[in-house]
Formats: sequence, structure tokens, C-alpha cells
Amino acid sequence: MLPLGVLVFFLGCKPSGNEISLIPLPAEMQLSGPGFTIGTETRLVYDNSELESIAHISSELWKSYLGYELPLEFTEERTTHSVAFTLNEKYDETLGDEGYRLDIQKGGVVIAANKPAGILYGAQTVYQLLSTHPDGKLPGLQITDYPRFGYRGLHLDVSRHFHPMEFIYKMIDQMAKHKLNVFHWHLIDDQGWRLEIKKYPKLTEVGAWRVDMSHLHWDARPLTKDPGNATYGGYYTQEEVRELVAYAAERNITIMPEIEMPAHVMSALAAYPEFSCTGENLGVPPGGVWPITHIYCAGNDATFEFLENVMLEVMELFPSEFIHIGGDEADKTNWKSCPRCQARIQNEGLKDEEELQSYFIARMERFLNAHGRKLMGWDEILEGGLAPNATVMSWRGEAGGIEAAKMGHTVVMTPGSHCYFDHYQGDPDIEPLAIHGYTTLAKVYSYEPIPAELTSEEGKLVLGAQANVWTEFMPDSRHVEYMIFPRLAALSEVVWSPAANRDWGDFSKRMQTQYKRYEKQDINYSLSAFQVRAIPEVNLDKKSLRIALDTDVYNPEIRYTTDGSEPNVRSPLYTGPFEIDQTTAVKAMVIENGKSMEQVMKREYYLHKAFAGDIQMKHPNSEQYDGHGQHSLVNGIRGTVSFSDGNWKGFLGNDLVATIDLGQTTSITSVSVDALHNYASWIFLPQWVSFEVSSDGEEFRLLEKVDNTFDIQDTRRNIRIYSTQTAAEEVRYVRVTVKSQGVCPPGHSGEGKPAWLFVSEIVVD
Ligand code: ACM
Ligand code: ZN
Repeated sequence: MLPLGVLVFFLGCKPSGNEISLIPLPAEMQLSGPGFTIGTETRLVYDNSELESIAHISSELWKSYLGYELPLEFTEERTTHSVAFTLNEKYDETLGDEGYRLDIQKGGVVIAANKPAGILYGAQTVYQLLSTHPDGKLPGLQITDYPRFGYRGLHLDVSRHFHPMEFIYKMIDQMAKHKLNVFHWHLIDDQGWRLEIKKYPKLTEVGAWRVDMSHLHWDARPLTKDPGNATYGGYYTQEEVRELVAYAAERNITIMPEIEMPAHVMSALAAYPEFSCTGENLGVPPGGVWPITHIYCAGNDATFEFLENVMLEVMELFPSEFIHIGGDEADKTNWKSCPRCQARIQNEGLKDEEELQSYFIARMERFLNAHGRKLMGWDEILEGGLAPNATVMSWRGEAGGIEAAKMGHTVVMTPGSHCYFDHYQGDPDIEPLAIHGYTTLAKVYSYEPIPAELTSEEGKLVLGAQANVWTEFMPDSRHVEYMIFPRLAALSEVVWSPAANRDWGDFSKRMQTQYKRYEKQDINYSLSAFQVRAIPEVNLDKKSLRIALDTDVYNPEIRYTTDGSEPNVRSPLYTGPFEIDQTTAVKAMVIENGKSMEQVMKREYYLHKAFAGDIQMKHPNSEQYDGHGQHSLVNGIRGTVSFSDGNWKGFLGNDLVATIDLGQTTSITSVSVDALHNYASWIFLPQWVSFEVSSDGEEFRLLEKVDNTFDIQDTRRNIRIYSTQTAAEEVRYVRVTVKSQGVCPPGHSGEGKPAWLFVSEIVVD
């Protein structure tokens, strides 16, 4: 995919003044010559009537830095002292459909492209140049630029929380500024149907509204069917959608609607329960539902007739070649007991419910294909067999995308690890509540959309990548902005810039300018990149902890303390990793222009008597939740309330039985262990914890068995420390058993299924 031999000139930029600071970084650029100053006498000329709307858009865009709009003129004559938009007479293969050449010289500015899309992107580049070159004083510069991927997406869930049209327009504008071209609009989910469908008015009359339970945690809201009290919600009219689609198209953005099926449709089933297996009306859920069993009936032809009618209106509204049909997270329990679904399995000669899902998706694909459209779905559509022409959107890691590409299908990569912008972007102790995860700016930037497992031919089936923004924990649009920005800047470079040009240090430097642009555009961007991250490493020999401090900003001034005091501008400057050999609180922050940029990072490290000790576990932890590996339970680091913070060891269904060798007979007076509780994520505090000691590692003596007293039905996230105190004991070995609940408790959505046990530090003192 990579154009080899591309010459890139990284321009020596100073952090302020006239730097070239473009995001995403162009494919090629070169500074030369004296440049051109745009003035009030400069005209914006274009040589093709197709460019008229882009000329308007550009002139308006540049006004925010110029202070005035350039007069427009439609002419085929090349004039000097103008900014000229010109469509190539002969197709320029290097540029493709979206690339452009920007030439700034003494005589004027020329943006040339094969298609209007390229001109638009050239104009966006000029906009970014104007932000760093006051008074329109553009440098002499030649740019040849084109995207690495044809699919450069942003997804937005407007079901979990409704976001007003005004905000959608703002995001479309931002997508264009980031040179992205597919807005994946997640219009349908359990908690709200957001698209007017004329033939089925109840979809929005009923399905768009739910009982407001925002006082409760998302995953602690009971199902309720109380339509008289359903006050939270909203939807988009077809008229509004048409206007938006046209507005986006002028900015080279395709809006791909997602019409979920067969699951994530309880909003539709609240309006039309007859299309479910049970016919039950469970209402529009006010919050999270798991597992999702109340789904469309696959045995009822009326369901398909309904979906096809919905699709007819959807296709009328959205010219997008791809229609996304969801397909994720369907629990097929109801299909197993539904006579119609079972009859379908029989009659179609299907093996099981997985194949019934494939039947469902393939049937919808035939309908879409017959109408000249293509089907896209989440990677679950692979299960039971992939529909013949489907494109797979890989979200549960990259495996689905790899499998589909190896089968010759096109794919879009959106793995949770790098592309889920509902994940935490900073320290969960500091950040507003998010779903889980830890996807920093640098992590997004590090993403490579073409997996190494693919051959170069298979790699061409990767259409691109996308950021996904699920809004369960984003009640308002300002919060959505906080989660999207600045991570979208990192993603834009992942999907646009040649892989060989990508460089985190250079990007982080250019981000300094990007933050200022966000400021000017009234974007509620996050400063999480300015949070200090502590990276501890156990030194087994010295029994010490080496602490490195890092951030996601360029050349930060980090001030820190290790004496418990609050850091300030006069605290020690961090210059490199330091060792600690006793229990220590580390506090750190980034200073810019004499001010703290973010909240203070605080971490406490417990260098207790078992620290860095030899530890053996009877049952292995899950590979997915391994903490820091071998010494994780004795590395002095306690987990935070975020189960995916990297500090927790997770055990699925198993107990923790850990034996620690203190190395020599040691006098101890207490032992403790931390466990995590997160009801929504199937993580439960233990039944009990026992603490035993031994002098030979063979015969153990019970110090204490501590029962859990915390109600495991409590839905709040919680960390508990279980401990025992004793008169001084001379021991060599300590054994800690943390008894898992084994299975999820009665009434829980995972009742009877394996429960998680999460444990972080075992502290011996
Ligand atoms: C998904 O995140 N359920 C596609
Ligand atoms: Zn059924």
C-alpha cells in the first residue's frame, strides 16, 4: 500500500511562530521560495462550476483566521495574486480521487486535484497554515498529498444518548478538518430508535423515548415499560437527515447509517413487539441490558418484510454504498425456544442458531445488493458463515478482520484496543466516568490498520479504520467532544498519512498547534495527554522499584515529589527514572507557562515485606488480565477502580491461591489483599479470604479466615482490602486464598455463568 520512494521533508519547526504544523501530515511537502500573502484584494478563483460550493466553504473556513471572506470568481483564466482552485484536465495517478497538490509561490496559491474532494482537502490544509501564519502570510510551500486509506471513519452512537443535529453538524465539520470521509451513524440501539420511518411511526413515537433514570449508573437501571413517563430521547426527521446528508456530501463525507439487527433493537421491539420471538413488550430500556436476548425473530417472515420496508426508506435517505446492519452481540437464547425460529432452522437445513444468524444477515444482504447497496456488519457476522459479499467491521480486536480478509472480503478495522473512544484516555482516578479501557492519545497514534498477519494482497482488502464513539457514559455533547478530541487527530494521521511518515515525537509537537485550533473552534477537547503516567518496574536484585514518568505531550516540564507533599512549580524537575526502596507516594504534574496543565497524578507504592518476593499461584490467571506479570501481586502497586488499568490479575471462575516465599524467616504483623467489585462487568468480591503462614512451605497454619461482608449485589464499583493482624509472627511463607464467588449470583444477567475475581496487591508487613 505504501508509495515507496516518497520523499518527505520534515521541516525544522520551532514550537511557536511560523511553523508548518499540519495534521494529518501530508504525504510530501517542501518549503521553497518567498511565499504569498493573502490580502483583502486577493480573489478565490475556480475553473469549474463543480467547485463553487467548495469555494464558498473554503472562503468561510479561512475567514476565521483572515477576518474576512475572499471574493469568489468563476474563471478559467489563470490569474496571478489569487488563490486558484483547478481540476486537472488529465487524471493525476499519484493523487487519486482525494489527493491534491498545493503550490504556494510569490505569484499566488494553486490547489489542483482530480476531483472536488481533493480541492476541499487542499483548502483544509490552507486553513491549518493560516492558523500558524497570521495575516495570511503563507510560506513558499509545495505539497503533494493523498490519503493512505479510502475509508477514514468516525462512528457516533446517538441511541444511548441523543445528540442534537447542531452537534452532528459540528462533528461533520470536524471530520472534514481531519480529512475523514465516512460518518458511521449508529442510529438504532436498545435504548432509542433515532430515525423517522414514515411507514412505522411508532418506531419514533414509542421507540425514541425512555424513562429517564440518569440518577442511576447506566448498568443499574431496571427495565421498565412506562411509556407515559418516557421523557428522555429524541429522533431525527427525514427532512433533517436529507439536509445533513447533503451538507456532509459537500464536504466529501458519506454518511453510513447503521440499522442494527437482529439484536440491539429493544427500542424497535417496544414499538412493534410482534417482531420478537416472544411478542413481549419490555419497553425501551433506560440503561444497559446484558445479555441481549430480546431480539428480532428470525423465523417470522413479517420481521423481514418490516426490515426491508425500513431499508427502503433508509436507502432513499442515504446514498451511501454501504449500509451497516450491526449484527453484534445477539444472544440467541430466545431463538432456541422459538417454534418459528426452530422451524426456519429445519426448513432451511441450518445447523444451529449461529447459522440462523447467517441466514438472517445473508437474506438482508440479498435485499441490499438487489438495490445496488453493500452490506457492512460487526465481526459477529462471521459466526455461522459470512454473507457472500459482506464487509466486516472488526471490533473485537483484529481477529475478525484478519479472518474476513483471508476469505477475500473487505474489512474496516476498529479494534477496541486502539479505536474505541469511549475508553478512558487517561488515569481513571482523574478522568470522568468512562466504560473501561485505557486508550491514550499515543496508543491511538500507534495503531497500524493492516495487521502483520495479512499478505500484501490481503492487506489491500483493509479499506481503512475508524474511531467508535459509544455514548452510554456521555450524557451530553460536550462530553462527547471531550472523548473524541484530541484522539481524532491521532486517528486522522493513522488513516491518512503514509505509514513511513508517522512519528510520535513529531506528531506530539504538532499537537501543540492542534490544541490551539481546538480552542479557537470551541471544541471541548481533553487535556488528558498532559497527565503524568508513572511506569514502575520491579528491580528484583535491589528489591526496589524504578519509576519512570511519562506523558503524551512534547517535551513536558514534569515536576514531582516523593515526600507526600503536593508538587508545585518549584518541585524537582523530572529528568529520568528514579529508584525507590521504601513505601513512597509519588505525585507529579506537567507545568506549562508556570501553570499546572492537568490534575496531579498520585500513586502510592508499597514496599512491604513480600515486595518482589517469590510468588507461586495454584491456578493461573486469565491471559487477558495478567496485571504486570509474574510479580504483579507483590510489586507494590494497587489497582484502581478501573479493572483494565493493567494492575489487576483476573481469574475467571477460579480462586486465587498464592504462596509467597519471603526468602528468609521474617517477623510479620499483618497481611492484606485487594479485590475489586464491578457488578456490571461480572467482577465480584470473594466469598472469603484466608491467610496462612508456614516456616517450611509444607505445613501451613491458619492466621484468619475473613468473610466478605460487602453485598455482592451492589452495583457500585468498589475496591475492598481484606486483612488480618497478628502479634509478631516469625514466618518464611505466606499463603493467601481468595475464594471466588465461582458463578454470577441470582438475579445477575450472568447468573450461573463463571464470575470474575480481580486481585491486585498482597501486602505483608
Ligand atoms: C460493539 O462495540 N458492540 C460493536
Ligand atoms: Zn423467533
